[in-house]
Amino acid sequence: MSKEIVLSAQNVYCSYGSDDVSIKVLKGADIAIRIGEVVAVMGPSGSGKSTLLHALGLLERPEKGKVFICGEDGWAMNGRKRAELRNRKIGFVFQFHHLLEEFTLKENVMMPCLIAGESSEEAAGKAERLLERVGIIHRASHFPSRVSGGERQRAAIARAIVMKPDIVLADEPTGNLDTVTSAEIEKLIMELAEEGRRSFLLATHSEDLASAVHRKVFLSSGILNESE
Ligand SMILES: Nc1ncnc2c1ncn2[C@@H]1O[C@H](COP(=O)(O)OP(=O)(O)O)[C@@H](O)[C@H]1O
Ligand SMILES: [Mg+2]
Repeated sequence: MSKEIVLSAQNVYCSYGSDDVSIKVLKGADIAIRIGEVVAVMGPSGSGKSTLLHALGLLERPEKGKVFICGEDGWAMNGRKRAELRNRKIGFVFQFHHLLEEFTLKENVMMPCLIAGESSEEAAGKAERLLERVGIIHRASHFPSRVSGGERQRAAIARAIVMKPDIVLADEPTGNLDTVTSAEIEKLIMELAEEGRRSFLLATHSEDLASAVHRKVFLSSGILNESE
């Protein structure tokens, strides 16, 4: 596999339900994402974007198919190794941010570092630098419920990249934001990708978010196509 490929998936199948009543969501999805590339997965609600991100992010095992993260076959290893690979290489941003409500924005960004065993000084330093970078250092000591939706997503993005993952999977990261705020978040994602030579895979049903990405893929009938 090319060294330039950060994430690749081959022939991914996912379904829900039991054998007699099952919904087949992915039916042989393929994708390859290069270093620093920002790719949007487009598709209407219910087409399987979240399912795809969960399979690619090593969160939910596909029925069939392979997912390689930096050349490593993520579903072929044991659970502990997989968790390690996920923590080291993948960042996640969800539509409804998933910040911990009882912690400040800075503490939320510090969390992955603390979990990885870093000192609180080190974690605090990284969190402050990133909050500064994403433009919300003035909100560092605020709780998620006390800041705007855009600020929450900036914090969620900071948290997703604090461990310097190779790829960030973002599921409708602007799904509940207004158009102006969405455009700002998209711009931030493009800049962060370039600065860190970091790849992003964004799931979205909105053309707005996907206007500046490097490449779009379309999820339809359970497979990914390069054009609509
Ligand atoms: N946990 C689940 N159990 C059963 N069906 C599910 C589950 N999650 C998603 N689905 C179904 O799978 C299909 C794809 O869902 P999803 O991946 O969430 O699509 P999208 O993110 O594009 O809206 C939908 O028909 C949805 O209802
Ligand atoms: Mg979804």
